[in-house]
Amino acid sequence: MLDYDPFDYALHDDPYATYRRLRDEEPVFHNRKFDFWALSRYADCQAAVRNFTLFSSAQGTTLEPIKAEVPTLINADPPVHTKMRHLIAGMFTPAKVAVLEQGVRDLARELLAPHRETGRIDVITDFAAKLPMAIICRLLGFPKADEDMLRNWTDTVVHRDEGVFEMPDEGMHASYALYGYFAEDMKRRAAEPPRDDIIAALMAAEAAGELSHEEVLGYIFILSIAGNETTTKLIGNMMFQLHRHPDQLALLHAEPDLLPSAVEETMRFDGPTQMMARTTTQDVPLHDRIIPKGAKVALLFTCANRDERKYERAEVYDIRRNPRDHLGFGGGLHACLGAALARLEAKVAMEELLAMTGDFAVEEARLQRMHSPQVRGFTHVPVTFAGGRA
Ligand code: HEM
Repeated sequence: MLDYDPFDYALHDDPYATYRRLRDEEPVFHNRKFDFWALSRYADCQAAVRNFTLFSSAQGTTLEPIKAEVPTLINADPPVHTKMRHLIAGMFTPAKVAVLEQGVRDLARELLAPHRETGRIDVITDFAAKLPMAIICRLLGFPKADEDMLRNWTDTVVHRDEGVFEMPDEGMHASYALYGYFAEDMKRRAAEPPRDDIIAALMAAEAAGELSHEEVLGYIFILSIAGNETTTKLIGNMMFQLHRHPDQLALLHAEPDLLPSAVEETMRFDGPTQMMARTTTQDVPLHDRIIPKGAKVALLFTCANRDERKYERAEVYDIRRNPRDHLGFGGGLHACLGAALARLEAKVAMEELLAMTGDFAVEEARLQRMHSPQVRGFTHVPVTFAGGRA
């Protein structure tokens, strides 16, 4: 019997055998227990993200029903989505984020400094968990002193207990805490001279009547959630895959210019965002089945990224591949707004990390995975190293 249960901890350990069976045996899968559908082939996921009239985001992009009354960028269809995205899309282009490179590098070096001489580091807790949150806090103008608190809340929001469909109480409390923090921040800003940053642009949109106060809060919420966990997990997953593929690590040390391609290949091969959900707006006939109108449909992006119908030797980790058309950042209208920032952060973080460690080993017995139906990655990646170039 083929089953796909995204809340099953065993699946989180290694979903890829199940993913292969889904693609081959049931490309349109129905999970009866939780009553959702799953698309697993690249072509089907790509078609779905490009067809918002049939596959809507407005009922939420998680499997559980959304409780929020207010549309957020990620949970909106056009024309609401178009208006919202347009407000700050220009601040996340590759050219705009390129100016952050030195700041990201300085921060990476500062975080690595205490570990250089010790020969050991927990890539997640000592480094990767701190870097993206620090950068997003800078972009949103939040003080350094609040970073750890904000990161704890955002981590709690994405955590799911085993086999539980809904957000646990702690997750709800953490969401309220984040909303409360953002509301206070906006109140403080309103009393100060205007700044020139993302929140200022959103507040200006509120003043112009383009967004409600709640919509601004929801926007900040999405920015702080989306930019934190995923980039952290990407860095951890990349260290793990390089450890498991020593030939690829050696290649990367020999040809450091391959790093951007290696980031893309890690996104394809073992990316952090396993899936995003949509809701059908009418019956959808596909591969001899009919997904009924109003059904939740999980688009299994990392599964699609290993589809042999799309990529040759799809199950092989090959850092020369440079597969920039992977679905790890989604696609269509909702394609990741922060993709250029995530790519920059991952590149710089890995450059600095590998320069410090040289060859390294992950202590596999002490690895710890996070458990979430949507995000794949580790909470601890302990690494030992003899030392590298820097
Ligand atoms: C490796 C890191 C990241 C991964 C894997 C990732 C993945 C994704 C994916 C798959 C989507 C599409 C959602 C959908 O189709 O429903 C998305 C959307 C989004 N991401 Fe990212 N993301 C990453 C980093 C970031 C960063 C650093 C930011 C910073 C601001 C960010 C902000 C967003 C936003 C705002 C959206 C919603 C876009 C929209 O609905 O128009 N992401 N991301």
